[in-house]
Amino acid sequence: MRKATIQVTLLTALVVGSAGAWTAASANTEAKAPEKFTTFCVPCHGPAGKGDGAAAAALNPKPRNFTDGELMNAKTDAQLIKAIKEGGAAVGLSSFMPTWAGQLSDEEIKEIVTYIRSLAIPKYQPKW
Ligand code: HEC
Repeated sequence: MRKATIQVTLLTALVVGSAGAWTAASANTEAKAPEKFTTFCVPCHGPAGKGDGAAAAALNPKPRNFTDGELMNAKTDAQLIKAIKEGGAAVGLSSFMPTWAGQLSDEEIKEIVTYIRSLAIPKYQPKW
């Protein structure tokens, strides 16, 4: 009797546990990256990533326009990740682009790069 109860409890924990992991995984690029992007990046890069956020007026050079595929598609993921993680100065760009290593995990930065890539016109084609 007791043994059966323990088995049922274990099974429930397994099912609930894997459902939780699945929800977290599927929520990743869909919801989380744009949410962080809105909080941290939109003030400068703008709601559509066009480099026209509220703070952009005061900045020179302007924050990057992520919809500019000609320019953005020539950059590697590694370059974009470094710019986000270490700030603009680390990649030879404006030092007004802050360092995000403290606020965003590597995973979140990768998700944001995927999100930024999705804004490019013409469309970004990964080279592999
Ligand atoms: C205070 C304003 C500001 C904020 C906030 C900001 N950026 Fe920037 N960002 C800039 C500026 C300015 C540049 C550099 C443009 C230049 O030098 O031509 C830049 C450049 C970049 C680049 C480099 C693009 C390239 O051409 O290599 C990336 C990637 C980037 N930002 C991503 C982000 C992300 C992601 C966030 C939010 C986590 C963010 N930025 C928040 C101002 C900002």
